[in-house]
Amino acid sequence: MKLKGTNIVIDTAWGDSGKGKFVDVFSHSADLVVRFNGGANAGHTVVNDYGEFKFHLIPTGIFNPNALSILAGSVALSPLTLVSEIEELRKKSVKISEKNLLISEYAHIIMPWHIARDTLRETARGASKVGTTGRGIGPLYADRTERIGVRMGDMLRENFEEIILRELAWQKQLISIMNVNNDDIYGEMLDKDKILADFRAAKEVLAPMIGNPLPIIWKAQKEGANILGEGAQGMLLDIDLGTYPYVTSSHPGITGFSIATGLQQNDIQRVIGVTKAYQTRVGSGPMPTELTGKVGDKLRELGNEYGATTGRPRRCGWLDLPALRYSLQIGGINSIALTKIDILDGMDEIKICTHYEHNSRRYDTLPTADAEFMAEAKPIYKTMPRWQSPTEGIKNFIDFPKEAQKYVKFIEDSVGVKVEIISNGPARNEVFYRIE
Ligand code: IMP
Repeated sequence: MKLKGTNIVIDTAWGDSGKGKFVDVFSHSADLVVRFNGGANAGHTVVNDYGEFKFHLIPTGIFNPNALSILAGSVALSPLTLVSEIEELRKKSVKISEKNLLISEYAHIIMPWHIARDTLRETARGASKVGTTGRGIGPLYADRTERIGVRMGDMLRENFEEIILRELAWQKQLISIMNVNNDDIYGEMLDKDKILADFRAAKEVLAPMIGNPLPIIWKAQKEGANILGEGAQGMLLDIDLGTYPYVTSSHPGITGFSIATGLQQNDIQRVIGVTKAYQTRVGSGPMPTELTGKVGDKLRELGNEYGATTGRPRRCGWLDLPALRYSLQIGGINSIALTKIDILDGMDEIKICTHYEHNSRRYDTLPTADAEFMAEAKPIYKTMPRWQSPTEGIKNFIDFPKEAQKYVKFIEDSVGVKVEIISNGPARNEVFYRIE
């Protein structure tokens, strides 16, 4: 399957919808693949002829020898994670150099103090913790906003080590104030010699690949090249429009792509919203359709719903159409990719949330992702006819059981956006395209 022009792939919910597979497929016909938000909090698995990989940062375009993979300026970049991913790829004979990987000089660097602060903040929050991935994402973006961040371009400066030491000095003070339990682990994490040694080693590997991707992106777009935007996390985790404070710290949708590239909605052909056939969430925060009993457990087991980055069990529930309509609105999404429909093959009953009730009012669309509103909203379900034979293994959508076809049609009719892609298994070829 080939996409022409500029297209982006994002997640319509709280992440983990299975974007990685499409990004992998589409990246084979892309000229540029741009990862535009988040950092090592994301995780996806790619299985191909080179082996199995669990990536947090490297864009999937790295497997296309003709594509340039870009880590944009708005990515929370952990040089140490990136180096270990590059090393793993090189071990498996994937060539990586400045010819196929460009790291924006404007990307902010995850430092050990960000990870320490992430953990300390979560501990301080106690029962109301966000349930972060512990990768330092929030503190990194906080430092960016406070305009004290260290960026990849700084790595190339002669005084890089001075910059680190200056920053380390005051971050240590901050951490000692936050560290109310006096855990001694933070001393180890902030060991000056270890930090300098780690960053010297990372610089050796990464320096040739650091540069400014913006003119390259603009030129490619003007010349009609195929540009693929690879989003991380999901629309409902957007820092501004998500279920604040239970959100990540970046923009997982089209806004994030624009900030990262300087390209705008008019420049984009398709914004593909990847939507799981049921709902999942990892971490804290409201989830109106969550099923806490046996049905939820069954979805988790059948769907193998455990976090790719942290291994945490994901909360599971029925597909939430009011939340999906909201995501389509805020994400500028004009195409849906529905994933994991095969997981519903094994369910004795299938429901779908058509609308909410809140204070005696009906809401077809989530009017705000305000965490309190969402926690109070009552999901109203429609029971869908379940299918008797599996979708798994079927090679054409028209051969799907009629009820499964109806499920797909019901979703697209309810939300007014076409389901152009349907995935019925983990392998790359277990997917149907309804794109003309
Ligand atoms: P953070 O991004 O690590 O700060 O975590 C904030 C929230 O976003 C938590 O609820 C995480 O579980 C969630 N989150 C972050 N990255 C991902 C992801 O890639 N998939 C799903 N959830 C994520």
